[in-house]
Amino acid sequence: MQWKSLAVAVALLVQDALGQQMLRFSCGQLVIERVDPLVNPGSNPSPHLHQVGGGDSFNASMTAVEYDPVKMSTCTTCTFSEDFSNYWTANLYFKARNGSLKRVPQMANQGLKANGGLTIYYIPPYDGKTTVTAFKPGFRMLVGDAMLRSAKGQQRGICHRCFSTINQVPFGGAPCTGADTSSLPTGFCQGGIRTTITFPTCWDGKNVDSIDHKSHVAYPSSGTFESTGPCPSTHPVKLPQLMYEIMWDTRQFNTKDLWPTDTTKQPFVYSTGDGTGYGQHGDYVFGWKDDSLQRALNARCSNDKCSQLKSQTSEAAMKCAKAPSVNELTEGWLSELPGSLPITYA
Ligand SMILES: *[C@@H]1O[C@H](CO)[C@@H](O)[C@H](O)[C@H]1NC(C)=O
Ligand SMILES: *[C@@H]1O[C@H](CO)[C@@H](O)[C@H](O)[C@H]1NC(C)=O
Repeated sequence: MQWKSLAVAVALLVQDALGQQMLRFSCGQLVIERVDPLVNPGSNPSPHLHQVGGGDSFNASMTAVEYDPVKMSTCTTCTFSEDFSNYWTANLYFKARNGSLKRVPQMANQGLKANGGLTIYYIPPYDGKTTVTAFKPGFRMLVGDAMLRSAKGQQRGICHRCFSTINQVPFGGAPCTGADTSSLPTGFCQGGIRTTITFPTCWDGKNVDSIDHKSHVAYPSSGTFESTGPCPSTHPVKLPQLMYEIMWDTRQFNTKDLWPTDTTKQPFVYSTGDGTGYGQHGDYVFGWKDDSLQRALNARCSNDKCSQLKSQTSEAAMKCAKAPSVNELTEGWLSELPGSLPITYA
Protein backbone atom coordinates (compact mmCIF):
# COMPACT_ATOMS: atom_id res chain seq x y z
CA MET A 1 0.00 0.00 0.00
CA GLN A 2 2.81 2.33 0.97
CA TRP A 3 4.69 1.43 -2.21
CA LYS A 4 1.62 2.16 -4.32
CA SER A 5 0.98 5.54 -2.78
CA LEU A 6 4.61 6.50 -3.27
CA ALA A 7 4.37 5.47 -6.91
CA VAL A 8 1.27 7.60 -7.38
CA ALA A 9 2.81 10.56 -5.60
CA VAL A 10 5.93 10.36 -7.73
CA ALA A 11 3.96 9.90 -10.92
CA LEU A 12 1.98 13.03 -10.13
CA LEU A 13 5.15 14.84 -9.25
CA VAL A 14 6.85 13.95 -12.51
CA GLN A 15 3.80 14.88 -14.53
CA ASP A 16 3.46 18.07 -12.62
CA ALA A 17 7.08 19.03 -13.15
CA LEU A 18 6.80 18.53 -16.87
CA GLY A 19 3.10 19.32 -17.20
CA GLN A 20 2.30 16.43 -19.48
CA GLN A 21 1.37 12.81 -19.87
CA MET A 22 4.09 10.37 -20.80
CA LEU A 23 5.02 6.74 -20.75
CA ARG A 24 7.44 6.23 -17.87
CA PHE A 25 8.55 2.70 -17.14
CA SER A 26 11.45 0.59 -16.11
CA CYS A 27 13.75 -1.47 -18.35
CA GLY A 28 15.96 -3.25 -15.83
CA GLN A 29 19.40 -4.62 -16.48
CA LEU A 30 19.55 -7.23 -19.24
CA VAL A 31 23.33 -7.52 -19.41
CA ILE A 32 26.56 -5.59 -18.83
CA GLU A 33 29.00 -6.33 -21.62
CA ARG A 34 31.41 -4.87 -24.16
CA VAL A 35 29.03 -5.08 -27.12
CA ASP A 36 27.66 -2.26 -29.31
CA PRO A 37 25.64 -3.35 -32.37
CA LEU A 38 25.25 0.28 -33.52
CA VAL A 39 28.77 1.71 -33.39
CA ASN A 40 30.76 -1.55 -33.57
CA PRO A 41 28.49 -4.05 -35.36
CA GLY A 42 29.84 -7.59 -35.28
CA SER A 43 32.65 -6.70 -32.85
CA ASN A 44 32.87 -8.92 -29.85
CA PRO A 45 34.22 -7.27 -27.78
CA SER A 46 33.57 -3.62 -28.65
CA PRO A 47 35.95 -0.99 -27.15
CA HIS A 48 33.95 -0.04 -24.05
CA LEU A 49 31.46 -1.51 -21.62
CA HIS A 50 27.72 -0.82 -21.72
CA GLN A 51 24.70 -1.56 -19.60
CA VAL A 52 21.77 -2.76 -21.65
CA GLY A 53 18.03 -3.00 -21.01
CA GLY A 54 15.18 -4.45 -23.09
CA GLY A 55 14.74 -7.53 -25.29
CA ASP A 56 17.06 -10.49 -24.83
CA SER A 57 17.88 -10.68 -28.56
CA PHE A 58 20.49 -7.95 -27.98
CA ASN A 59 23.53 -9.06 -29.99
CA ALA A 60 26.69 -7.69 -31.60
CA SER A 61 25.05 -8.13 -35.02
CA MET A 62 21.57 -6.62 -35.36
CA THR A 63 21.12 -5.56 -38.99
CA ALA A 64 18.37 -2.95 -39.33
CA VAL A 65 14.95 -4.34 -40.38
CA GLU A 66 16.43 -7.77 -41.18
CA TYR A 67 17.08 -8.59 -37.51
CA ASP A 68 13.72 -8.20 -35.81
CA PRO A 69 14.05 -7.92 -32.00
CA VAL A 70 10.33 -8.76 -31.63
CA LYS A 71 10.77 -12.12 -33.35
CA MET A 72 14.25 -12.87 -31.98
CA SER A 73 13.56 -12.09 -28.30
CA THR A 74 12.13 -14.52 -25.79
CA CYS A 75 11.70 -11.94 -23.01
CA THR A 76 12.23 -8.29 -22.09
CA THR A 77 13.40 -6.49 -18.95
CA CYS A 78 10.85 -3.71 -19.62
CA THR A 79 7.55 -3.32 -17.78
CA PHE A 80 5.67 -3.21 -21.09
CA SER A 81 6.03 -6.76 -22.32
CA GLU A 82 5.57 -5.84 -26.00
CA ASP A 83 8.70 -3.68 -25.89
CA PHE A 84 11.73 -5.65 -27.11
CA SER A 85 13.72 -2.51 -27.95
CA ASN A 86 17.26 -2.18 -26.65
CA TYR A 87 18.36 0.81 -24.62
CA TRP A 88 22.00 1.18 -23.63
CA THR A 89 24.53 3.60 -22.13
CA ALA A 90 28.05 3.65 -20.71
CA ASN A 91 28.59 2.38 -17.15
CA LEU A 92 29.93 4.51 -14.34
CA TYR A 93 33.00 3.54 -12.29
CA PHE A 94 34.48 5.02 -9.13
CA LYS A 95 38.25 5.52 -9.08
CA ALA A 96 39.55 5.37 -5.51
CA ARG A 97 42.55 7.35 -4.26
CA ASN A 98 44.71 4.20 -4.56
CA GLY A 99 43.81 3.91 -8.25
CA SER A 100 41.47 0.89 -7.99
CA LEU A 101 38.14 1.06 -9.81
CA LYS A 102 34.69 -0.27 -8.89
CA ARG A 103 31.46 -0.14 -10.88
CA VAL A 104 28.83 2.17 -9.39
CA PRO A 105 25.62 0.19 -8.81
CA GLN A 106 22.32 1.56 -9.99
CA MET A 107 19.05 1.91 -8.15
CA ALA A 108 15.50 1.70 -9.40
CA ASN A 109 13.93 5.08 -9.97
CA GLN A 110 11.29 6.45 -7.60
CA GLY A 111 8.04 4.49 -7.68
CA LEU A 112 9.56 1.71 -9.79
CA LYS A 113 11.02 -1.65 -8.91
CA ALA A 114 13.85 -3.11 -10.97
CA ASN A 115 17.26 -4.67 -11.01
CA GLY A 116 19.14 -1.46 -11.91
CA GLY A 117 18.92 -0.61 -15.57
CA LEU A 118 17.17 2.42 -17.00
CA THR A 119 13.95 4.34 -16.64
CA ILE A 120 12.54 4.93 -20.10
CA TYR A 121 10.25 7.78 -21.12
CA TYR A 122 8.30 8.31 -24.36
CA ILE A 123 6.93 11.82 -24.21
CA PRO A 124 4.39 13.29 -26.64
CA PRO A 125 4.12 17.10 -27.05
CA TYR A 126 2.45 18.55 -23.99
CA ASP A 127 -0.26 20.50 -25.80
CA GLY A 128 -2.21 17.23 -25.59
CA LYS A 129 -3.17 17.45 -29.31
CA THR A 130 -0.14 17.27 -31.58
CA THR A 131 0.25 13.72 -32.82
CA VAL A 132 3.60 12.04 -33.02
CA THR A 133 4.75 9.23 -35.28
CA ALA A 134 6.15 6.19 -33.51
CA PHE A 135 9.50 4.81 -34.65
CA LYS A 136 9.41 2.34 -37.56
CA PRO A 137 10.77 -1.24 -37.53
CA GLY A 138 14.56 -1.16 -37.85
CA PHE A 139 14.82 2.38 -36.44
CA ARG A 140 17.90 3.14 -34.36
CA MET A 141 19.77 6.22 -33.20
CA LEU A 142 22.60 7.44 -31.04
CA VAL A 143 22.87 10.57 -28.96
CA GLY A 144 26.10 11.93 -27.51
CA ASP A 145 29.70 11.23 -28.36
CA ALA A 146 31.80 8.79 -26.34
CA MET A 147 35.02 10.65 -27.28
CA LEU A 148 33.86 14.07 -26.07
CA ARG A 149 35.70 15.59 -23.08
CA SER A 150 34.33 19.16 -23.25
CA ALA A 151 30.88 20.79 -23.57
CA LYS A 152 29.60 20.96 -27.13
CA GLY A 153 27.32 19.80 -29.94
CA GLN A 154 24.56 17.29 -29.54
CA GLN A 155 25.50 16.93 -25.91
CA ARG A 156 22.74 19.45 -25.25
CA GLY A 157 20.38 16.60 -24.39
CA ILE A 158 22.61 14.93 -21.76
CA CYS A 159 22.82 16.08 -18.14
CA HIS A 160 23.74 15.02 -14.61
CA ARG A 161 21.86 15.90 -11.45
CA CYS A 162 23.42 15.68 -7.98
CA PHE A 163 20.93 14.53 -5.33
CA SER A 164 21.48 15.63 -1.75
CA THR A 165 19.26 12.92 -0.24
CA ILE A 166 18.08 9.52 -1.36
CA ASN A 167 14.65 9.63 -3.04
CA GLN A 168 14.90 13.41 -3.05
CA VAL A 169 11.50 15.09 -3.06
CA PRO A 170 10.87 17.41 -4.78
CA PHE A 171 12.75 15.72 -7.58
CA GLY A 172 13.54 19.03 -9.26
CA GLY A 173 12.54 20.55 -12.61
CA ALA A 174 12.82 19.23 -16.15
CA PRO A 175 16.10 17.58 -17.19
CA CYS A 176 18.98 19.97 -17.92
CA THR A 177 17.42 22.79 -15.88
CA GLY A 178 18.44 24.20 -12.51
CA ALA A 179 21.82 23.04 -11.24
CA ASP A 180 22.08 20.14 -13.74
CA THR A 181 25.47 19.85 -15.45
CA SER A 182 26.66 18.20 -18.64
CA SER A 183 29.85 17.25 -16.81
CA LEU A 184 29.83 14.91 -13.80
CA PRO A 185 29.12 16.75 -10.51
CA THR A 186 32.28 17.78 -8.63
CA GLY A 187 31.24 17.14 -5.01
CA PHE A 188 29.61 14.42 -2.88
CA CYS A 189 26.08 13.58 -3.99
CA GLN A 190 24.62 11.99 -0.83
CA GLY A 191 21.53 10.75 -2.70
CA GLY A 192 23.35 9.62 -5.84
CA ILE A 193 23.76 11.03 -9.33
CA ARG A 194 21.18 10.96 -12.09
CA THR A 195 22.00 10.92 -15.80
CA THR A 196 19.32 11.99 -18.27
CA ILE A 197 19.72 11.35 -21.98
CA THR A 198 17.18 13.11 -24.18
CA PHE A 199 16.95 12.10 -27.84
CA PRO A 200 16.07 14.30 -30.85
CA THR A 201 12.38 14.45 -31.80
CA CYS A 202 12.45 15.26 -35.53
CA TRP A 203 12.92 12.61 -38.22
CA ASP A 204 13.67 12.86 -41.96
CA GLY A 205 10.73 10.50 -42.51
CA LYS A 206 12.75 8.16 -44.74
CA ASN A 207 15.81 6.59 -43.14
CA VAL A 208 15.65 4.27 -40.15
CA ASP A 209 19.39 4.80 -39.61
CA SER A 210 22.31 6.85 -40.96
CA ILE A 211 26.08 6.34 -41.09
CA ASP A 212 26.68 8.34 -37.91
CA HIS A 213 23.35 7.06 -36.45
CA LYS A 214 22.43 10.75 -35.90
CA SER A 215 21.83 12.61 -39.19
CA HIS A 216 18.42 11.02 -39.87
CA VAL A 217 17.11 12.78 -36.74
CA ALA A 218 17.38 16.36 -35.43
CA TYR A 219 16.49 18.38 -32.38
CA PRO A 220 13.68 20.93 -32.89
CA SER A 221 14.80 24.51 -33.46
CA SER A 222 13.40 25.72 -30.13
CA GLY A 223 11.27 24.72 -27.17
CA THR A 224 11.59 24.41 -23.42
CA PHE A 225 11.21 20.69 -23.29
CA GLU A 226 12.49 19.58 -26.67
CA SER A 227 9.35 18.18 -28.27
CA THR A 228 7.44 21.48 -28.21
CA GLY A 229 9.59 23.33 -30.78
CA PRO A 230 9.08 23.21 -34.57
CA CYS A 231 10.98 20.58 -36.57
CA PRO A 232 13.39 21.75 -39.31
CA SER A 233 12.12 21.29 -42.92
CA THR A 234 14.78 18.62 -43.53
CA HIS A 235 13.39 16.55 -40.63
CA PRO A 236 9.64 17.29 -40.67
CA VAL A 237 8.25 14.21 -38.89
CA LYS A 238 7.60 14.65 -35.17
CA LEU A 239 8.68 11.71 -33.03
CA PRO A 240 7.86 11.08 -29.40
CA GLN A 241 10.62 12.30 -27.14
CA LEU A 242 12.65 9.34 -25.98
CA MET A 243 14.50 9.87 -22.72
CA TYR A 244 16.68 7.63 -20.56
CA GLU A 245 17.15 8.20 -16.87
CA ILE A 246 19.83 6.36 -14.89
CA MET A 247 20.19 6.57 -11.11
CA TRP A 248 23.76 5.91 -9.97
CA ASP A 249 23.89 4.85 -6.34
CA THR A 250 27.16 6.52 -5.27
CA ARG A 251 26.51 6.26 -1.51
CA GLN A 252 29.13 3.59 -0.74
CA PHE A 253 31.81 5.85 -2.27
CA ASN A 254 30.98 9.05 -0.40
CA THR A 255 33.90 8.69 2.01
CA LYS A 256 36.54 11.38 2.16
CA ASP A 257 39.37 8.84 2.51
CA LEU A 258 38.48 7.22 -0.81
CA TRP A 259 38.34 10.49 -2.76
CA PRO A 260 41.32 12.14 -4.44
CA THR A 261 43.37 14.46 -2.20
CA ASP A 262 42.93 17.17 -4.83
CA THR A 263 39.43 18.40 -3.94
CA THR A 264 38.92 20.05 -7.35
CA LYS A 265 38.82 16.58 -8.93
CA GLN A 266 35.84 14.23 -8.88
CA PRO A 267 36.53 10.48 -8.86
CA PHE A 268 33.84 9.08 -11.18
CA VAL A 269 34.67 7.88 -14.66
CA TYR A 270 32.57 6.43 -17.45
CA SER A 271 33.41 3.03 -18.92
CA THR A 272 34.61 4.89 -22.03
CA GLY A 273 37.56 6.22 -19.99
CA ASP A 274 35.83 9.59 -19.75
CA GLY A 275 36.74 11.33 -16.50
CA THR A 276 34.68 14.44 -17.33
CA GLY A 277 31.11 13.21 -17.99
CA TYR A 278 30.86 14.97 -21.38
CA GLY A 279 31.29 11.63 -23.17
CA GLN A 280 28.11 10.04 -21.83
CA HIS A 281 25.89 8.72 -24.64
CA GLY A 282 22.77 6.69 -25.28
CA ASP A 283 21.94 4.13 -27.96
CA TYR A 284 18.51 2.98 -29.10
CA VAL A 285 17.28 0.11 -31.26
CA PHE A 286 13.49 0.16 -31.71
CA GLY A 287 11.69 -3.11 -31.07
CA TRP A 288 8.04 -2.58 -30.09
CA LYS A 289 5.63 -5.27 -31.29
CA ASP A 290 3.37 -4.24 -34.21
CA ASP A 291 1.83 -0.78 -33.68
CA SER A 292 1.77 -1.03 -29.86
CA LEU A 293 3.85 2.10 -29.28
CA GLN A 294 1.75 4.18 -31.68
CA ARG A 295 -1.45 3.04 -29.92
CA ALA A 296 -0.04 3.97 -26.52
CA LEU A 297 1.04 7.38 -27.79
CA ASN A 298 -2.32 8.06 -29.45
CA ALA A 299 -4.07 7.13 -26.21
CA ARG A 300 -1.74 9.48 -24.27
CA CYS A 301 -1.01 6.74 -21.78
CA SER A 302 0.77 7.72 -18.60
CA ASN A 303 3.49 6.05 -16.60
CA ASP A 304 3.68 2.26 -16.58
CA LYS A 305 -0.02 1.49 -16.94
CA CYS A 306 -1.71 1.63 -20.32
CA SER A 307 -4.96 0.04 -21.47
CA GLN A 308 -3.46 -0.23 -24.96
CA LEU A 309 -0.45 -2.24 -23.85
CA LYS A 310 0.39 -5.58 -22.27
CA SER A 311 2.46 -5.36 -19.10
CA GLN A 312 4.40 -7.76 -16.92
CA THR A 313 5.17 -7.61 -13.22
CA SER A 314 8.51 -6.21 -12.06
CA GLU A 315 9.35 -9.71 -10.81
CA ALA A 316 8.80 -11.22 -14.28
CA ALA A 317 10.83 -8.42 -15.88
CA MET A 318 13.69 -9.07 -13.44
CA LYS A 319 13.82 -12.73 -14.53
CA CYS A 320 14.80 -11.70 -18.05
CA ALA A 321 18.58 -11.62 -18.42
CA LYS A 322 21.29 -12.45 -20.91
CA ALA A 323 24.68 -13.98 -20.13
CA PRO A 324 27.56 -11.63 -21.02
CA SER A 325 29.14 -12.71 -24.32
CA VAL A 326 32.54 -11.27 -23.34
CA ASN A 327 34.43 -13.15 -20.66
CA GLU A 328 36.00 -10.45 -18.45
CA LEU A 329 35.74 -8.93 -14.98
CA THR A 330 33.47 -5.91 -14.66
CA GLU A 331 32.60 -6.15 -10.92
CA GLY A 332 34.50 -5.72 -7.65
CA TRP A 333 37.70 -3.69 -7.28
CA LEU A 334 39.57 -3.67 -10.61
CA SER A 335 43.03 -2.41 -11.50
CA GLU A 336 41.82 -0.97 -14.83
CA LEU A 337 38.63 -0.34 -16.82
CA PRO A 338 37.25 -3.26 -18.87
CA GLY A 339 39.01 -3.07 -22.25
CA SER A 340 42.08 -1.53 -20.54
CA LEU A 341 40.91 1.95 -21.56
CA PRO A 342 43.01 4.87 -20.33
CA ILE A 343 41.19 7.52 -18.31
CA THR A 344 41.22 10.96 -19.92
CA TYR A 345 40.15 14.34 -18.55
CA ALA A 346 40.60 16.57 -21.60
C1 LIG B 1 25.27 -12.45 -32.75
O1 LIG B 1 26.48 -11.80 -33.06
C2 LIG B 1 27.53 -12.67 -33.44
C3 LIG B 1 28.76 -11.81 -33.66
O2 LIG B 1 29.31 -11.48 -32.43
C4 LIG B 1 27.13 -13.44 -34.69
O3 LIG B 1 28.14 -14.35 -35.04
C5 LIG B 1 25.83 -14.19 -34.42
O4 LIG B 1 25.39 -14.81 -35.59
C6 LIG B 1 24.76 -13.24 -33.93
N1 LIG B 1 23.58 -13.98 -33.52
C7 LIG B 1 22.42 -13.84 -34.14
C8 LIG B 1 21.29 -14.60 -33.55
O5 LIG B 1 22.27 -13.09 -35.08
C1 LIG C 1 42.07 0.30 -3.01
O1 LIG C 1 41.12 0.68 -2.08
C2 LIG C 1 39.94 -0.14 -1.98
C3 LIG C 1 38.99 0.51 -1.02
O2 LIG C 1 39.53 0.69 0.23
C4 LIG C 1 40.36 -1.53 -1.61
O3 LIG C 1 39.23 -2.37 -1.48
C5 LIG C 1 41.31 -2.06 -2.68
O4 LIG C 1 41.72 -3.35 -2.34
C6 LIG C 1 42.50 -1.15 -2.81
N1 LIG C 1 43.32 -1.57 -3.94
C7 LIG C 1 44.59 -1.88 -3.81
C8 LIG C 1 45.31 -2.29 -5.08
O5 LIG C 1 45.19 -1.88 -2.73
